[in-house]
Amino acid sequence: MSLFNLARLLGRSAAIGCFSVAAKLPLVCGLVPSAKLRRLIGIATLPDLKYGGIYSQSAYSPWKGDAAFRQVLAAIRSHTLVDEYRCYELWRLCGQIGALNPGDILEVGVWRGGTGCLLARRAQDANLGGTVFLCDTFTGVAKAGGQDSAYVGGEHADTSAAMVLDLTRRMGLSNVEVLEGIFPDATAHRIADRHFRFCHIDVDVYESASQTFEWVWPRVVPGGIVVFDDYGFYSCGGVTRLVDGMIGRPDRLMVYNVNGHALVIKRD
Ligand SMILES: C[S@@+](CC[C@H](N)C(=O)[O-])C[C@H]1O[C@@H](n2cnc3c(N)ncnc32)[C@H](O)[C@@H]1O
Repeated sequence: MSLFNLARLLGRSAAIGCFSVAAKLPLVCGLVPSAKLRRLIGIATLPDLKYGGIYSQSAYSPWKGDAAFRQVLAAIRSHTLVDEYRCYELWRLCGQIGALNPGDILEVGVWRGGTGCLLARRAQDANLGGTVFLCDTFTGVAKAGGQDSAYVGGEHADTSAAMVLDLTRRMGLSNVEVLEGIFPDATAHRIADRHFRFCHIDVDVYESASQTFEWVWPRVVPGGIVVFDDYGFYSCGGVTRLVDGMIGRPDRLMVYNVNGHALVIKRD
């Protein structure tokens, strides 16, 4: 782990510790001037979600020795909010879907196109065929609500479809289609007859994640994978609740990867 990542990890753990202490002293919370900070302190009292620092004993870091991945990561770095651990998991998973029934790739929650273009590059290099559909409002997070811990809607609006298309051009991608508007409401009808081998849901909030999953799941081929970003993040409790609510259903296997991803794999 780099010093930067270590500092971030310790900083995050310390912040969660401070939030937990502050949450036990309601008077302190009342004195905090920032609404966002008050929300973060409130998360520490949620009865269904427990948070703390995670220090894995694993040290294997294959993303460091994968030259093709590193090249793509360098190209998308300034266009993604996703760290290299999660990017590498997307890269590796996408490289393993070639044996599944034919299908496309869907990403909902694109921002500036980083993870979407990473998936598209992997699919193009592996000759997977199909299209990578990248769906975003490009006006920020939609459908934040009561299940969500910190998001209120409108976050991550500092992007545009043009920024994403510019990245696809610079990366020489010919397999991407950008769909602009709230998903599924405004754009899903354009791909309603498609099937998907892989879907990346990175929308930060419960309702958007839930509606995206309900729409895509019947269209996922057997063995296909849905990756939920945001699972386990302190500020994304809605997504954690949503995925936890799916555990035990007979048509799916859920894997928590401790890195901020939950994988949901469709059983044959
Ligand atoms: C954290 S960002 C995505 C990050 C991106 N995957 C990356 O590589 O950095 C979340 C995005 O989800 C989008 N979003 C949230 N709800 C949505 C919805 N219902 N339909 C379309 N886009 C949505 C927001 O506009 C925002 O750009």
